Amino acid sequence: MDYVGIIGYGHMGSMLVDGFLSSGVLGIDEVVVTARSRESRDACAAAWPGIGITGTNTDLARRCRTIVLAVRPQETMEVLREIVPVMDGGEHIVSLAAGIGLAEIEGIFSGAVTRAVPTITSAAGQGTTLICHGGRVGKQDALRVEGLFASIGNVMPVREEELPAATILSSCGPGLLAAIIEELAGATARAGGLAPDRALALAVETAAATTTYLRETGETPGDLVGRVATTGGVTEAGARVLREQLPGAFDEMVAAMLERYGAVGK
Ligand SMILES: NC(=O)c1ccc[n+]([C@@H]2O[C@H](COP(=O)([O-])OP(=O)(O)OC[C@H]3O[C@@H](n4cnc5c(N)ncnc54)[C@H](OP(=O)(O)O)[C@@H]3O)[C@@H](O)[C@H]2O)c1
Repeated sequence: MDYVGIIGYGHMGSMLVDGFLSSGVLGIDEVVVTARSRESRDACAAAWPGIGITGTNTDLARRCRTIVLAVRPQETMEVLREIVPVMDGGEHIVSLAAGIGLAEIEGIFSGAVTRAVPTITSAAGQGTTLICHGGRVGKQDALRVEGLFASIGNVMPVREEELPAATILSSCGPGLLAAIIEELAGATARAGGLAPDRALALAVETAAATTTYLRETGETPGDLVGRVATTGGVTEAGARVLREQLPGAFDEMVAAMLERYGAVGK
């Protein structure tokens, strides 16, 4: 049987198990999970009674043809080196690790390798998983992995050189936008007139409504600013400050993230 194995039951591993099983793309008897600690393995068994759990990574690798590495980047190569000796190269490794290239994994594993970058918002069935297949991935395996991730949101195939920038937008993006929403609510609350919790609730709702509006109308963000920021109006006063100050701050933010991306896992 073509089992899907997931090594790691942290934020991403548990989200994938929940998503694959609750969407119905995989049945409970098609998934095998392991994690470093007994606590995490027990938590998975309790959340999904009947799911396959193995005590070791090598046991999982022996049983599964598709193996998702949902451990941290700095743990990924160590786990791979542990399981490679028990694999025959017919397996398909799917690595979630930021900063670890296809060539690095293909250098020690002779089979098919895909890099996948999910996003925390997949837990709500939203957002985009980036998928980058290595040269040894056949059409059928590519479609199978894309189908798995399509069950938890959108899927966007990307070239490996596009991954750092795309990761900032799709995978780091929720964290960045959440920080912006927090600042927007915080600044209006600090200015007075609205309790912080009510300011935050309004800001979250406005962010959700704005992205829905952009998606449904097809307008660009620039179009929308133009519609709301009428000359001499309140929005225009705020947009002017943002347009002066944000480009520099955002260029600095992206540069810091790209520098860190290159260092993660090393
Ligand atoms: N968090 C995000 O938003 C996000 C988004 C996209 C991609 N990613 C990528 O997803 C991967 C996992 O991130 P995460 O946030 O899920 O990390 P995490 O919450 O720290 O979970 C890591 C998991 O790996 C397990 N683990 C560690 N060493 C292991 C070993 N030697 N053998 C077996 N299992 C081991 C841990 O076991 P224990 O539970 O027993 O400690 C834990 O379950 C990373 O490569 C990250 O770059 C994360």
